[in-house]
Amino acid sequence: MTVQGETAQSAGPLTTEAGAPVADNQNSETAGVGGPVLVQDQSLLEKLAHFNRERIPERVVHARGAGAYGTFTVTADVTRYTRAHFLSEVGKQTETFLRFSTVAGNLGAPDAVRDPRGFSLKFYTEEGNYDLVGNNTPVFFVRDAIKFPDFIHTQKRDPYTGSQEADNVWDFWGLSPESTHQVTWLFGDRGIPASYRHMDGFSSHTYQWNNAAGEAFWVKYHFKTDQGIKNLRAEEAAVLAGQDPDSHQRDLRTAIERGEFPSWTVQIQVMPVADAATYRFNPFDLTKVWPHADYPPIEFGKLELNRNPENVFAEVEQSIFSPAHFVPGIGPSPDKMLQGRLFAYGDAHRYRVGINADHLPVNRPHATEARNYSRDGLAYDGRHGGAKNYEPNSFGGPAQTNAPSWQPIAVSGITGSETTPLHAEDNDFVQAGNLYRLMSEDEKERLIANLAGSISQVSREDIAERAIANFRKADADYGKRLEAAVQALRG
Ligand code: HEM
Repeated sequence: MTVQGETAQSAGPLTTEAGAPVADNQNSETAGVGGPVLVQDQSLLEKLAHFNRERIPERVVHARGAGAYGTFTVTADVTRYTRAHFLSEVGKQTETFLRFSTVAGNLGAPDAVRDPRGFSLKFYTEEGNYDLVGNNTPVFFVRDAIKFPDFIHTQKRDPYTGSQEADNVWDFWGLSPESTHQVTWLFGDRGIPASYRHMDGFSSHTYQWNNAAGEAFWVKYHFKTDQGIKNLRAEEAAVLAGQDPDSHQRDLRTAIERGEFPSWTVQIQVMPVADAATYRFNPFDLTKVWPHADYPPIEFGKLELNRNPENVFAEVEQSIFSPAHFVPGIGPSPDKMLQGRLFAYGDAHRYRVGINADHLPVNRPHATEARNYSRDGLAYDGRHGGAKNYEPNSFGGPAQTNAPSWQPIAVSGITGSETTPLHAEDNDFVQAGNLYRLMSEDEKERLIANLAGSISQVSREDIAERAIANFRKADADYGKRLEAAVQALRG
């Protein structure tokens, strides 16, 4: 490999894609001197055609990101909660790949913006790849997948102006009061991390763990940065985003090049299944956290990132992560957002990278092998050779295990378009108010200034007022100060 900056030494003849030598890579072939270009110059045509096809569709969300390989190490025994092999003993290590991202920006967007950060982690386990596709926030804006495309439309470019519009953002949030908690988080100090290394990660969703005795537990994952939390103020971020749009990506790559391997302490909150029905908050509502006083986090692992990808397109752009990639001992919860995501990611991968996306080097299992009867499709690599492509068969092909990865859950009632049930202390504002009241006076001031700066750009009074009303419901002081700050900016 020629390293950037080195003088390239010839590594033998330049060839076409078919391996034939190329005589001239500087001048295309013409009819006579100064005449038109000839169709017979196949190396020119091939080069232009390949160039036209260099891009694949960018991710519809989280398009902008950076990734690195690493190691997950078990640091405490969790076998009483899960039978997942990669968590089976203290000291056990599993190779990982982590992709960080922002949500709303396109592929070339700046890193230092106010936006949640994606935290997509692939564990290459001996029982198959396990993906946790989380964020740096423990909660989300909405609690039903059916609202996700509408929400994202308000974060992306307006169909008429072609830009992100404050009107759309605040219209949707004002009309979706369940977003108040996550919006408070986003406009607070943690809304613009200084780098990917200086932020936490969360599963956000509740998942199921189940042990060898068949007992199930509801769990939430937390990845606490060992580098310490560092954030950017709005003014600092605005400068950095302009001066170094790739700031987070560069920071991650160069830290690993220097041997400063970032790490996270991995914790789990565990809720006994029997608690779920009567817990004060609906444990499957993604707009809520489980307060640590109720379910204290238990430390069980260390995640370290220690190797940069060699090729960003092959390993980061083509990487795929799916919340539906489980291994035995881990499974879904009935969280309505998660359930929608179980469909959405595989569908996105098939569109964006193709039907054989799972078999690219970064995506395929590294500690086991994928063995099934699916075959062929675009860019199939022939990995099954001549093996039989049907089941059952009499030729010793792979067979089902009869061992489901997760435990069944109890359900009740009849089918219907139901809202997420409210538990005793549930409403859309309680945890947003709690978060506000936890902040220091300085933090509150910055939160109000950040929110007011954004809401004051809204063109319609009713949209701005509806948005402010949600914060008022979270905390009277929060609403009052925000209203005054918006009025001061609007004049
Ligand atoms: C029902 C709600 C959601 C839907 C339908 C959805 C859909 C998607 C889709 C289609 C992608 C692009 C995937 C690709 O092209 O490879 C994506 C990426 C992503 N989503 Fe979601 N999403 C939802 C909610 C969430 C939530 C709640 C989180 C975090 C807790 C999240 C975190 C991410 C991350 C981190 C990525 C980037 C994955 C990567 O690095 O490749 N999403 N989402």
